Amino acid sequence: MGLDTAVSKPHEALAALLSEDMGAVNALIEDRMASEHAPRIPEVTAHLVGAGGKRLRPMLTLAAARLCGYTGPYHVHLAATVEFIHTATLLHDDVVDESAQRRGRPTANLLWDNKSSVLVGDYLFSRSFQLMTETGNLDVLRILSNASATIAEGEVLQLTAATDLRTDEAIYLQVVRGKTAALFSAATEVGGVIAGADAAHIQALFDYGDALGIAFQIADDLLDYQGDSAQTGKNVGDDFRERKLTLPVIKAVAQATAEERDFWVRTIEKGRQEDADLDHALALMDKYGTLSATRQDALAWAEKAKASIGQLPDHDIRDLLIGIADYVVSRLN
Ligand code: IPE
Ligand code: IPE
Ligand code: MG
Ligand code: MG
Repeated sequence: MGLDTAVSKPHEALAALLSEDMGAVNALIEDRMASEHAPRIPEVTAHLVGAGGKRLRPMLTLAAARLCGYTGPYHVHLAATVEFIHTATLLHDDVVDESAQRRGRPTANLLWDNKSSVLVGDYLFSRSFQLMTETGNLDVLRILSNASATIAEGEVLQLTAATDLRTDEAIYLQVVRGKTAALFSAATEVGGVIAGADAAHIQALFDYGDALGIAFQIADDLLDYQGDSAQTGKNVGDDFRERKLTLPVIKAVAQATAEERDFWVRTIEKGRQEDADLDHALALMDKYGTLSATRQDALAWAEKAKASIGQLPDHDIRDLLIGIADYVVSRLN
């Protein structure tokens, strides 16, 4: 691994550094996503897990544990738990969002049906709880079960907030903290906890995960308008079609003229969309520079993440985690 790789692709450098641990996590995931009794389960899980995914969250757990000097076996269970929770939420999320593409493949809800996605998602959630109990550590159980509840709350809050033009940046932040950042912060926190790190370091790991998760989701919401679907593996413009108020639109609504506001009411609140509407929405975002303003917000959260992880002792993994903060806001997939 050359220095160039480490600088430009910190997630790959981190994956290389943690490749042995990551191999154990992948083996555990393969083992636990199976089911002897319901053939639909391995079909659906193989479809989604086989498509890959960046494995960012489990990597964060492994990295946090190693950074805090952990030498035991349970960081692997925790990392697999985190990826199972993530995968379960994706199955459910694609049903809720009626999405057709995930990880470059048709979604499970499209290939099978909503019933399969919901129930296999439930199965994976349950498998994640089994996995975390194997650590015998009540603190990590508390953190990860709290995170699961918070993710669900965030998704439910979004149901009502997303099509309501009164949704402001504070509510958006609340949704994003819940649906996305809660798992990032739990992922980093449990790494520190299983390693027996001191309270200040665990807090810094939590704060890093929280800010990183927020930066990650804001970047994701930008990719929904600006990304290349060949790279993201998801459809572009989905958020607008799903009538989801994300930060670039919230910023445009806040500055809208009366006529522009009518446009947002029709397309987002009422959901009466026509073919040219996505282009018009993009033109309005361009008019107020809201995509670049949103990028600035993502960058600010990434800086917060870096400041938090900077409180941990000097370590090559710490430096890669700093790089990950830059990566999540510049990523293309
Ligand atoms: C997708 O997460 C869900 C969001 C929080 C936006 P990722 O982009 O990490 O998904 P995979 O695991 O790499 O597919
Ligand atoms: C994903 O949210 C968050 C969770 C999985 C809980 P989104 O709906 O914004 O993400 P994508 O675009 O489907 O990945
Ligand atoms: Mg979605
Ligand atoms: Mg969603």
